[in-house]
Amino acid sequence: MRILIGLSIGAFAIAGLVAVLWTAGASVDAPSPAGDSRTADVRAVAEASGAGPLGPRPEADPALVSLGEALFFDPILSGNRDISCGSCHHPGAGSGDGLPLSAGTGGAGDGPERRVGADRTLVPRNAPPLYNRGHEQWRTMFWDGRVEVVDGAIRSPAGDVLPDGLNSVLAVQAMFPPTSRVEMRGKPGEVSPDGRPNEIALIGDRDLPAIWDALAKRVVTEPGYEELLAAAFPAVQRTELSFVDLANAIATYEATAFVADQSPWDAFLAGDDRALDDAALAGASLFYGDGGCSACHSGVLMTDQRYHATGVPQVGPGRDAAAPADRGRADVEGSAAEDEYAFRTPSLRNVAISGPWMHDGAYDVLEDAVRHMVDPAASRARYRPPVQAGVGRLPRVPDAEQERLDSEAEAFGGSVTALSDRQVADLVAFLGALTDPASRRGEPALPESVPSGLAPPAPLPTP
Ligand code: HEC
Ligand code: HEC
Repeated sequence: MRILIGLSIGAFAIAGLVAVLWTAGASVDAPSPAGDSRTADVRAVAEASGAGPLGPRPEADPALVSLGEALFFDPILSGNRDISCGSCHHPGAGSGDGLPLSAGTGGAGDGPERRVGADRTLVPRNAPPLYNRGHEQWRTMFWDGRVEVVDGAIRSPAGDVLPDGLNSVLAVQAMFPPTSRVEMRGKPGEVSPDGRPNEIALIGDRDLPAIWDALAKRVVTEPGYEELLAAAFPAVQRTELSFVDLANAIATYEATAFVADQSPWDAFLAGDDRALDDAALAGASLFYGDGGCSACHSGVLMTDQRYHATGVPQVGPGRDAAAPADRGRADVEGSAAEDEYAFRTPSLRNVAISGPWMHDGAYDVLEDAVRHMVDPAASRARYRPPVQAGVGRLPRVPDAEQERLDSEAEAFGGSVTALSDRQVADLVAFLGALTDPASRRGEPALPESVPSGLAPPAPLPTP
């Protein structure tokens, strides 16, 4: 366990306080017009379950943001220099990749057109969106929460070798993608597209500090980074910088660039009674009422950041020893039955633009994801896996594993009221109202070039 620097821990507490004060104030300050009790009712029931505005945006040193932006889109952090964070977290694809499952190093293309390389396996999970991940209330990262803040200390797959000095749980997360052979690091003997050797792949899987040192060395010896590093860390010699400094810069960029707080729902919560149309208003009423959705999709981030087995069909290669299954939270927490096949409740802000949905991208239509939540057993019975570009229809896990998932799904279905087609459509309309128009337009903007001279992700056509 490693302690995060004090500042961010303090901020977790302050954010909580701000949210409470704001929520309490809004119900008083924002009366709806006389006669329209429906908007007032929806606002009241939503606020009662902790819904509210995100509060102040994270502030940051612009020089650190610029460095982080460059690193986020620069394939220099990939062993084979062929993939960046932005290839899988593309602003034009809802800050994911638009694919059921991600294609790592050795693949080609960006966003939904990206193809897995020959003789490569798909990443076993769906690339989640990054919106609002800099919000102080986040304490978990990944579908299984394998990076998380527990009692003010960080728990991560690196255990005791995780270095000190990381500025947030988001910065801790940024330490890991470049260490994954499938996502970014590659295999021994591979070379960059321009023929340079992959020195990072030669390091043993368990020697994370050596991987981080080798990545930092690449960046600090790259002349293109000289000015950015000097501006972001004026008091430190470039050769003294470590991957921790680079991870902090990446997290600072993510936290400031992917803020999404201007959705119609935000306007509604701030008092604009006309921000939601009738269907979205009815959907909100269901979401926070009979639909039971806010039991898990709670609070300003619309997630309890807890783990639930919801019987989502398992597709793709699966993860670790359980492959082709994916035990989810159980891989982190050991053997507790409730953790089997449990995944962290996703934040639903911007959910309409961040498909395919679920931990394995099992659904590529939002309505199907909603129907699954309402009635998992029925949804599983008529289920067909999605088609992945360059791969075809993804394989679903064998029946023997499915049976255990079915019993989980029944347990989940019992807590949710059965809904009509109209009600499902209303829920989908409400989820659409959680979209920030800037995110829908594909913001933040992509850089046209990155300091290494390698190619950043290409722009995608706007949806
Ligand atoms: C090959 C595609 C790929 C690349 C490259 C990649 N990611 Fe991801 N990212 C994913 C997938 C898939 C997950 C989910 C993995 C899981 O939960 O097990 C993820 C998870 C995350 C999360 C957690 C979000 C949450 O809600 O828990 C963050 C933050 C993130 N990535 C940032 C980055 C950064 C920063 C980089 C570059 C250093 C990066 N990613 C590179 C595919 C990718
Ligand atoms: C018991 C907790 C719980 C309840 C209740 C719940 N959800 Fe979920 N929801 C989850 C979890 C956990 C996932 C992710 C499951 C997975 O990926 O395996 C999820 C996934 C989703 C997704 C996909 C999001 C994404 O980014 O992939 C949507 C959409 C969704 N839920 C909507 C709803 C709606 C609408 C309701 C109410 C009808 C609802 N949920 C009720 C826990 C819950």
